[in-house]
Amino acid sequence: MNAAYRFDDWETPAAAPQNPAVDAKIAPKIEVDRGILPAAALAPVNAADKRIVNGKADINQLAPFKYPWAWEFFLKANRNHWTPLEISMAQDVHDYHHKLSPAERHVFENVLAYLTTSDILAMRNIGLAVMEKMTAPELQIYQARQVYEEALHTWTYQHCIENIGLDQQEIYNRYRVVPQIHGKIALSNRRLEKALRSDLDLTDRANLHEFALSYFFFAVIFEGCWFYNGFTPIFALQRRGLMKGAAEQLQYIMRDEVLHCAFGIRVVRELLKEEGLELDPQALRTLWDEAEAAERAYASYILRDPILGYNADLHVQQFRFVANRRARQVGVEEPFPGAENVLPWLDEQANLRKEKNFFETRVTEYQTGGALAWD
Ligand SMILES: [Fe+2]
Ligand SMILES: [Fe+2]
Repeated sequence: MNAAYRFDDWETPAAAPQNPAVDAKIAPKIEVDRGILPAAALAPVNAADKRIVNGKADINQLAPFKYPWAWEFFLKANRNHWTPLEISMAQDVHDYHHKLSPAERHVFENVLAYLTTSDILAMRNIGLAVMEKMTAPELQIYQARQVYEEALHTWTYQHCIENIGLDQQEIYNRYRVVPQIHGKIALSNRRLEKALRSDLDLTDRANLHEFALSYFFFAVIFEGCWFYNGFTPIFALQRRGLMKGAAEQLQYIMRDEVLHCAFGIRVVRELLKEEGLELDPQALRTLWDEAEAAERAYASYILRDPILGYNADLHVQQFRFVANRRARQVGVEEPFPGAENVLPWLDEQANLRKEKNFFETRVTEYQTGGALAWD
């Protein structure tokens, strides 16, 4: 093998080309490459020229920043390094096989089944659809980190599935055969489909509105409500000392998701302000209603039999409460006025640092920076 292709050997010089035919093909390319220097010096990038979308400034130049908060998100995310291998799953294997009731096993497996699919969907949406439409590098750099984190979350679910010994063929296919799980994924695909088109012209106002609505759905509902709420049934088990390894894994994921959601909400707000755009209230109403209906159907399936301290009604009420909080954060009307915080322990559960003494897990000081706040 030619030494030039060895990734672990940067010292050995490349061998001279052996094949004159290949050599001849390379030669004209070198001539072409000499012509890429610009005829005149380029103008310096002005931060004011950057835009969330439709920007004209050089995408390959990080600073000067127009969105320094986006760079701060990147730095903050990099204080959250972890992998699923750091958390012991030994007790979970015993709990799953010997302690969980059939109803609890049903909840656990189906939450996992939904999450496996939804994190891949999240990774693809950010990496393949959203990122290419953002025209400031400081936004894209945080999103590159987000893409990695979604892949890490997928690894985490796979790690749980392998350690507990669940049937992979069955668990990964479950969202396809259970309509109530499929409903959330199908709704997401429909809402995100248009944004995935790489030829979407965002200078067209109707397209821009469609893209903003799609990104709103992703950041505010898919990540901000469904993920936040989605882990809760497993946290309910954790509060009773069950499946603590898996729950701790989800707490690490939640730390990342807090940032994803907060970043997404900030982007939506800036995008609307920058473009002088207002989301159509009727379109928003439909979005919330569809999301609630999908969540209600999902809850009625995963919690068809309530488990101790948790049931489908609590799940849906909490979704409505979190949805109001997210709406306030974006600056749109609350979709479910009067919804109550029926699971007041959830916010505390989401904070690993507060949780450590109560559950005596191995976590000592998860993040070196400031604590993350939900509101
Ligand atoms: Fe994720
Ligand atoms: Fe995420």
